[in-house]
Amino acid sequence: AGPQRLAGRHAIVTAGPTHEAIDPVRYLANRSSGKQGYAVAGALAALGCRVTLVSGPVALPTPAGCDRVDVVSARDMAAAVESALPADIAVMVAAVADWRVEAAGAKLKKKGAPPALTLVENPDILAGIAAPGPRRPRLVVGFAAETETTREHAQAKRVRKNADWIVANDVSGDVFGGDANLVHLVTGSGVEDWPPLPKAEVARRLAARIADAL
Ligand code: C5P
Repeated sequence: AGPQRLAGRHAIVTAGPTHEAIDPVRYLANRSSGKQGYAVAGALAALGCRVTLVSGPVALPTPAGCDRVDVVSARDMAAAVESALPADIAVMVAAVADWRVEAAGAKLKKKGAPPALTLVENPDILAGIAAPGPRRPRLVVGFAAETETTREHAQAKRVRKNADWIVANDVSGDVFGGDANLVHLVTGSGVEDWPPLPKAEVARRLAARIADAL
């Protein structure tokens, strides 16, 4: 196979955290660095794929060959993914906040009792794009960060979200912000345990597998 194995294909990749506003100056977030998602976007582009990288707030340069769309919240990310369709491939690497805050319109004041935060559920972007329909990408890949029973949870997640593959990420070690990753590739035919690899190498292997599958 030649180096441009994904020429003519379009992939949507999400990456990074989302920020959910509490009020105009505060937010809820998580420790995602965006490194793995950016590496996946770059690896797909390196195979000649057209890549739309929908990115939460991170401090990383845009990988060569990717069209980057910057978003802040989960709802922004869902809308950007939707507008980037149609696509052949979706790889949802972002650590999307499960909940958003019923945000205050004005800065909360530090007086009296501390304010209670009311959380409401965010849209599940992976489940949305993987749902059956004419615009479903041919290959939908999710990531799953787990600290225990990684493989079993990932199998269940693959089925529940109708994803084709889940890359199950063991985050019990030093994964967030780090350069190495320990993953299992969960497909319809079973689970592959990959050795500990740099995030860039996980991305290259995954992109090659995606090219094989299409
Ligand atoms: O359920 P969980 O958050 O562990 O699932 C992880 C996978 O689902 C990742 O691929 C992540 O990008 C995606 N996801 C999403 N939208 C959400 C929550 C998770 O796309 N609201």
